[in-house]
Amino acid sequence: MVFKREDGRKPEELRKPINAKVGIIPNADGSAMYQSGETIAIAAVYGPKEHHPRNQRNPRKGTLRCNYNMLSFSVTDRIRPGPSRRSTEISKITEWALTPVVMLEKYPNMVIDVHIHMIQADAGTRCAGINAAAMALAHAGIPMKNLVSSVAAGKLDKTVVLDLDKHEEDFEEGEGSTDIPITMTPDGEITHIQLDGKITSKQLKEAIEMAKKASKEIYEIQKKALKEVGEK
Ligand code: CDP
Repeated sequence: MVFKREDGRKPEELRKPINAKVGIIPNADGSAMYQSGETIAIAAVYGPKEHHPRNQRNPRKGTLRCNYNMLSFSVTDRIRPGPSRRSTEISKITEWALTPVVMLEKYPNMVIDVHIHMIQADAGTRCAGINAAAMALAHAGIPMKNLVSSVAAGKLDKTVVLDLDKHEEDFEEGEGSTDIPITMTPDGEITHIQLDGKITSKQLKEAIEMAKKASKEIYEIQKKALKEVGEK
């Protein structure tokens, strides 16, 4: 039996609305927003610039430094401002998801700062943040081998589904909820995958296939938003 989603979506359907906009912060070198349902991320890129502190410089290639932050009132329960264990982890994950496509070898001893703010959060924020950051990097004119697109696949009870919202992430009946955020290039090269929960290898393959199709949809939306504005 296929799990019935409360918002009426099909298992492989992305949340709506999906909005992407490039060039939202005039003072940044590159910027973008990405919205998926009730989750909204904005990203600002500053650099490449001299890397400080100096002892963290890499003479062989530049450094991508990501900072993920959830604003206090992005969820109904106010979140304590400032870094947390969770935000530190997601910042690192974001760096790992983006680094494979950014041509950092062109910028020895330099740093590119990416600031990501969640202005509204309803699950899937790391994916929305990565989507916004990828567009902001391209907007800043940073050479990239490709764009990346990110989405969470997962499982609700026994059904493989795409793009879980917070209500679904908290689902506990039957086999409960499994969340698998995945980032990939339009060619299907995975740069980031995480798994929270249980899933069989057969269903994991199914989930990855679902994410692959969805990330192509997201890629087209990102590309369109970039074309509308062009490189800064
Ligand atoms: O957002 P993402 O799914 O990437 O990460 P998560 O750690 O699994 O968080 C899932 C969701 O829980 C967030 O998107 C928020 O909606 C919510 N959350 C919250 O309400 N308060 C927190 N301190 C952290 C997360």
